[in-house]
Amino acid sequence: MALVKISDLSKHEDKEVTIQGWVYKRTGKGKLSFLLIRDGSGFAQCVAFKGDLDEETFDEIKRIPQESSVVITGTVRKDERAPGLPGGYELGISAFSVVQAAQDDYPMALKEHGVDFALDNRHLWLRMPSQWAILRVRATVVSAIREWLDDNGFTLMDTPILTPAAAEGTTTLFETEYFDEGKAYLAQTGQLYNEANIFSFGKVYCFGPTFRAEKSKTRRHLTEFWMVEPEAAFVDLEELMEIEEQFVSHIVKRVLEKNRPELESLGRDISALEKIQAPFPRISYDDAVAKIKELQAATEDPEEAAFLEIEWGMDFGGRHETVLTQQFDKPVFVYGYPTEVKAFYMEPWPDRPEVCKSVDLLAPEGYGEIIGGSERMSDPDLLLSRIHEHGLPEEAFKWYLDLRRYGSVPHSGFGMGVERTVAWLCGTEHIREAIPFPRTIKRVYP
Ligand code: 4AD
Ligand code: MG
Repeated sequence: MALVKISDLSKHEDKEVTIQGWVYKRTGKGKLSFLLIRDGSGFAQCVAFKGDLDEETFDEIKRIPQESSVVITGTVRKDERAPGLPGGYELGISAFSVVQAAQDDYPMALKEHGVDFALDNRHLWLRMPSQWAILRVRATVVSAIREWLDDNGFTLMDTPILTPAAAEGTTTLFETEYFDEGKAYLAQTGQLYNEANIFSFGKVYCFGPTFRAEKSKTRRHLTEFWMVEPEAAFVDLEELMEIEEQFVSHIVKRVLEKNRPELESLGRDISALEKIQAPFPRISYDDAVAKIKELQAATEDPEEAAFLEIEWGMDFGGRHETVLTQQFDKPVFVYGYPTEVKAFYMEPWPDRPEVCKSVDLLAPEGYGEIIGGSERMSDPDLLLSRIHEHGLPEEAFKWYLDLRRYGSVPHSGFGMGVERTVAWLCGTEHIREAIPFPRTIKRVYP
């Protein structure tokens, strides 16, 4: 008899198969007991009928505690109404054995529990269908990221985690003692190293955990998150946007191909994701500010109007991004932000030094910035003065200035946050559910 995965039940209709997994839910009525079993690949209903089993086995099934690990043999039946993920097939139990009977006090079985309780029990919360679905989407996003970059001429370059200086602002650094060398910092980005790598490999990307000691406690910020950062030589701002829209469209396409049942189980509006195909709209920061002002003038809610207050030169807050992205049904590029609010390494706009060649990609439906990127500064003298203005140690950037002295070319790159992307695709309100063990300002446990 075949040992099969729940995700493959449809291939074994009317056959007897064996599955190994855990009891997620148990219900019963008279001569019937229903177990919802999960095995990592999906969730399936298994039905025990008293007449089919000896009394002892039927009793054991009737009493089996949630989370017990079990091995079940049964006949696969097609039933459109059978609950599960993907659902549509159930197992008529013919044999049942227990690997371990779980303790009868499973914490997550409590009906009422808040977010803190769920996070304290993240090691168990991971077993729930919603979390399973979100993290399966995450795995698809990660593999689609690698697939697109590997297939489009980008070479993977792993960049360091321990770094000598800030690259994305000095206020969010995690620091650590580093032997006799003084302080080292957890990487906020791998970008600067990739700017060295492109001079050997042309197009590169790094992909790994990134650290920001974010003082702000928002639903969009983690202190440890995963970022993919492509960087390419001979690419300007306009070409960068073309790369980004192809890249994001590919990721969405793969998630729709591989994770439709997961998205449906999360209640995600799939038709909204089906619209995510290149090209994406582009709007300048100047026009975005004008649009936000217009929307502010139009709102009748004084509180909302206060939130939407904006002057040219300000960075966008979450609320600004939300109203702006509600104007579009695709992600929108906002380019040409004020130099003041962006990192030190961005190329100035020709004849407008107060504006830089930056571009953020904002997800629709209010999910905010998922990508930040720019064309990089090419003039070594201006770069050095920016390093000074930003209070960065010149010594730590000597090598970075060399890149502008030996064969400098226009080049650009971007960073996409995995958790924000997954939260958008899944329609998850808080990004902490988009990573197995989230790290936030208030939490390093479990
Ligand atoms: O806009 P950011 O700060 O850009 C950079 O770090 C550049 N060095 C990237 C590059 O050009 N190579 O961050 C890029 C993305 C954001 O758009 C967001 O998706 C994510 O990283 N991100 C965070 N995600 C979760 N929690 C945080 N605290 C994040 N900070 C940034
Ligand atoms: Mg940014």
